[in-house]
Amino acid sequence: MDSAGYYTNCKKTDGICEGICDGEHGSKAVLSMSRLKCALRGFDLKALLFLLIGLPIIIFVIYVHGQKVTYFLRPIWEKPPKPFTVLPHYYHENVSMANLCKLHGWKVREAPRRVFDTVLFSNELDILDIRWHELSPYVSEFVLLESNSTFTGLEKKLHFKENRQKFEFAESRLTYGMIGGRFVKGENPFVEESYQRVALDQLLKIAGITDDDLLIMSDVDEIPSGHTINLLRWCDFTPEILHLQLKNYLYSFQFMLDDKSWRASVHRYRAGKTRYAHYRQTDDLLADSGWHCSFCFRYINDFVFKMKAYSHVDRIRFSYFLNPKRIQHVICQGADLFDMLPEEYTFQDIIAKLGPIPSTYSAVHLPAYLLEKADQYRYLLPGNCMRESG
Ligand SMILES: *[C@@H]1O[C@H](CO)[C@@H](O)[C@H](O)[C@H]1NC(C)=O
Ligand SMILES: *[C@@H]1O[C@H](CO)[C@@H](O)[C@H](O)[C@H]1NC(C)=O
Repeated sequence: MDSAGYYTNCKKTDGICEGICDGEHGSKAVLSMSRLKCALRGFDLKALLFLLIGLPIIIFVIYVHGQKVTYFLRPIWEKPPKPFTVLPHYYHENVSMANLCKLHGWKVREAPRRVFDTVLFSNELDILDIRWHELSPYVSEFVLLESNSTFTGLEKKLHFKENRQKFEFAESRLTYGMIGGRFVKGENPFVEESYQRVALDQLLKIAGITDDDLLIMSDVDEIPSGHTINLLRWCDFTPEILHLQLKNYLYSFQFMLDDKSWRASVHRYRAGKTRYAHYRQTDDLLADSGWHCSFCFRYINDFVFKMKAYSHVDRIRFSYFLNPKRIQHVICQGADLFDMLPEEYTFQDIIAKLGPIPSTYSAVHLPAYLLEKADQYRYLLPGNCMRESG
């Protein structure tokens, strides 16, 4: 782009400037005028080339990476949400419950509260199995609702109903509900999602929840650790609503993204007041309370299904995102399925998280049932990224 460049071109008489640049003829003034013209002509050509080739490339790059540009600039256009008040969490298997409650500033009860674990189920059978086994010793009633519609209005099988016999251990404590989808075309997926969550409130009443029972509100893949729920059911004076800080994993327990998952919450139930929700409801967050394993699926097809059924279906900007080979590659890399930048609120955090998630080789402090059934759930453990196509 520098004029020296055109000038040099000109001196070399590249055809366009031929004659004009020939310094043999004319005065110095004419010569410099000619050089200017020449430079301008050269410029015209380059500008034209730029318009014809460069501009479309730039537009294409913005089209492909536009989301990245806006995400990268997020710290400018969006303020971070108010930080949580993180409550320290104390636990060791050898410390008595009386002492654990005391360490948190709470008081041990004579008997534990009843616990209701309530989930909206899609198709994550393996994660449900691990979740329910982790929580089983502490849960009074498992409440599960499934629909024949995804949030995006696609028809879906009743995966739980079809596999119910695999959950024999929970059967005596299970309240199962099925809700027909509304299949409204072109609607915002969050509408169907909230419709299904409202149905969960009804199902909870059918399950027999009463005031002061503990209610876990979380997605299936947000798994509170058993000892966390045991602590909360045994102590008095805990906050009425408490969010749980979970470690965020992606694809398996090999890729730990951060410890910032907060959507799961535990409520002391109040009839007429408590509503099943998955957004922020209070400022209190109990540290290190379990695991959130996103996109932790056995089959490549499950990834494709989830990508389409997901409330953020607009993130599938190109159909090759759903290509099985690409998905397998992305899983092994710990990269992003939607090719997006990290959703963070400061440049420091965005930059710290650029690129694939580093692998962890620790399988310490994971759900016990995952390790007991390691043969069955090997794909969730570090070092096993290859998936079946299924
Ligand atoms: C746990 O407590 C038992 C008995 O009180 C004791 O024998 C054992 O050494 C303790 N284990 C740890 C890891 O502290
Ligand atoms: C979904 O379930 C409802 C309620 O059982 C039923 O009426 C409807 O036909 C089902 N729709 C599909 C597409 O399976």
